[in-house]
Amino acid sequence: MDEPVTTKKKCPFPFDADDLGALARTYGELREHDPVPEVTLPSGDTAYLITRYADAQAVLGDRRFSSDIGRPEAARLREGSDGNFTNPYIADRAWHLRWRKLLTRAFTPQQVETMRESVQAIAHELAEELAGRERPVDLLQAFAFQLPARGISELLGIPVLEQRQVRGWVDALATSREADLAERAEAGMAMWQYSLGLIADKRAHPGEHLIDRLIAVHDDEDGKLSEDELVMTIIALIVGNNENTARQLGQGMFLLLNHPDQLAELRADRSLLPGAIEEILRSTPVYTALPRFATEEVQLGEKVIPCNATVLVARDSAQHDERWIDEPHTFDIRRKTPTRHLAFGHGPSFCIGASFARLQMSCGFTALLDRFPDLALAVASEEVSWTYRLLGSGAKTIPVTW
Ligand code: HEM
Repeated sequence: MDEPVTTKKKCPFPFDADDLGALARTYGELREHDPVPEVTLPSGDTAYLITRYADAQAVLGDRRFSSDIGRPEAARLREGSDGNFTNPYIADRAWHLRWRKLLTRAFTPQQVETMRESVQAIAHELAEELAGRERPVDLLQAFAFQLPARGISELLGIPVLEQRQVRGWVDALATSREADLAERAEAGMAMWQYSLGLIADKRAHPGEHLIDRLIAVHDDEDGKLSEDELVMTIIALIVGNNENTARQLGQGMFLLLNHPDQLAELRADRSLLPGAIEEILRSTPVYTALPRFATEEVQLGEKVIPCNATVLVARDSAQHDERWIDEPHTFDIRRKTPTRHLAFGHGPSFCIGASFARLQMSCGFTALLDRFPDLALAVASEEVSWTYRLLGSGAKTIPVTW
């Protein structure tokens, strides 16, 4: 970046990710001198970018900042679109509260933990399949995206999802790629029909998986999940799980391969794994920014965020805030990484699948460490290129060998 970003009136966002070092410097400069800059999005609309940890936590925990970015006044996150898509249910605060209450009852960390053995078996199976492939191979496609596709099937108790198909749907619905309206509508409809079929099948053949529990919650006197709400929940779980978990797993392994001493320590002492997972969650960028809509004027430090403004919470900047954590750019699996990092968000929309994500990551890393004692990057780490989109970012491929 030639011109220091802070001298620009409104800098374009997302920033260039060709050079991750330059990106980190840009965020560092903003955190220091201009922590809530106004940025211009590819659509031409403007938003406020939150770069410090304390501000990020404040915004995500404050109900005055709504997740309903589908409002007509909100900045358009996708280039060339008329507005943003938001789930009409989740945008409704009362509904959201009730839904989370029901969902967290059917999806507890204890229930997740009972799945460890089966998810571990899936991860080992996938590692075995990977070992049979011709090297070098892209770890993201050949392993990292496969595990959540299989993991969610196990969680929901449904046939293994065809991961290409699911990724196509998720990509069209959840990222800022310029999928046109027709493509998004088609993906939404396909997922809706698919989920309706799953529920019908579960009603006919009840079991003990998450969908069965959600159906049971629906019949409970405390609340009702209608057929539409059940469908929406299944879609939210499939979409929430897929890309995020895959990226944390694949990019986490990339981080470990780039720190061979720490990888060796982890191989020798697996009790370091939970700490390593938290450090990976803190360190690797997955989503560029979490969008919010200001429903009233809010004073944030020295900045006044006007009513109807769009705010983008840059989690990767916040998680590297030197005001919050020492030596933020050092990857250290032994550090006592606070679990209050923002990888799973914070506040009313905190990730509902966090314990399942941690479980899948733990099983995925364990399988890779067990099966591949000589796993290595097949290219120099600088040759791994990254995309930095408004809503989704990450390594394009992670070629590995062994
Ligand atoms: C490492 C993997 C994951 C990461 C980094 C992640 C990250 C996040 C974040 C940051 C949010 C909050 C979004 C916001 O505030 O706007 C979120 C919400 C959510 N996540 Fe995750 N997630 C992961 C895995 C999962 C899994 C495994 C599931 C389900 C099986 C899941 C389901 C959801 C759902 C349903 C929400 C919406 C919650 C709400 O609106 O109240 N996520 N996730």
